[in-house]
Amino acid sequence: MLSSHAHRTAENSAAQLLPELRAGMDLLDVGCGVGTITVGLAQRVAPGRVEAIDVSEQVVAATARLARDHGLAGTVRARVADVMDLPFPDASFDVVHAHQVLQHLSDPVGALVQMRRVLRPGGLLAVRDADYDAMRWYPDSTGLERWRRLYTDIARANGGTPDAGRRLLAWCRSAGFTDVTAGSSTWCYADAQSRAWWSDTWAERTGAVDVPGLGRDAVSRGVAMAEELASMAGAWRRWGSDPDGWFVVVHGEVLARKEAGPGQEAWRRIAES
Ligand SMILES: C[S@@+](CC[C@H](N)C(=O)[O-])C[C@H]1O[C@@H](n2cnc3c(N)ncnc32)[C@H](O)[C@@H]1O
Repeated sequence: MLSSHAHRTAENSAAQLLPELRAGMDLLDVGCGVGTITVGLAQRVAPGRVEAIDVSEQVVAATARLARDHGLAGTVRARVADVMDLPFPDASFDVVHAHQVLQHLSDPVGALVQMRRVLRPGGLLAVRDADYDAMRWYPDSTGLERWRRLYTDIARANGGTPDAGRRLLAWCRSAGFTDVTAGSSTWCYADAQSRAWWSDTWAERTGAVDVPGLGRDAVSRGVAMAEELASMAGAWRRWGSDPDGWFVVVHGEVLARKEAGPGQEAWRRIAES
């Protein structure tokens, strides 16, 4: 799973945010994972401060290492923290970013309320999440349909929302954001190299029952036997070796601006007059 996250970059996963970033902005990356997106964001906002948080000690250490390797040790501070209890005062950041995090949370709106709290007035929230029920592929495969059902059932049993992408606009509005722009974007795997990588990633995550991941989760919940998982992994490998294979991952995404406070509004009017 961690190796699949390492292919993510600011360019392929946060394109909606990049035109908004400026040197000197303070940015919080929530659920930073192994940090490959974080470093791309940090390169754009340096010398601004970047805080990267995640509940997993292992990935926080990986983010800190990657930041050092990119010469960003003075910009990125990675630490273990829970989005539901962000260890920052109100109005600490110009930008708060979370990629494929809300879909895993049992209270995504509560998380967004926290993220809004730490934004400065006029600051920007950027969130992006996948929508598993909207994923499409070719050619048809009953093995991949069974994999999708298994993944979404387990994600829901774990308290997550695998079709989070379509709900981001609603969740942001529920969390109090009023200036919200929603859109969508995709990852598409349709050349030999990306097809092989995507299919290997999922074949391993599904078929391996002795390491943390979908396969082990399925067995421990008693919802699939090792043989069924091996058959789904086989469907992934067959799809991956088909030169006609095409797979699109649909994402919902949102940019939401925290409304400027009355003081800032008055200042803007004075500045414009
Ligand atoms: C799918 S990964 C995405 C990682 C990274 N944003 C990326 O796209 O490469 C989701 C991450 O959210 C983290 N996470 C889950 N629950 C969290 C919470 N309550 N607070 C902070 N991070 C959390 C996980 O540990 C995991 O690293």
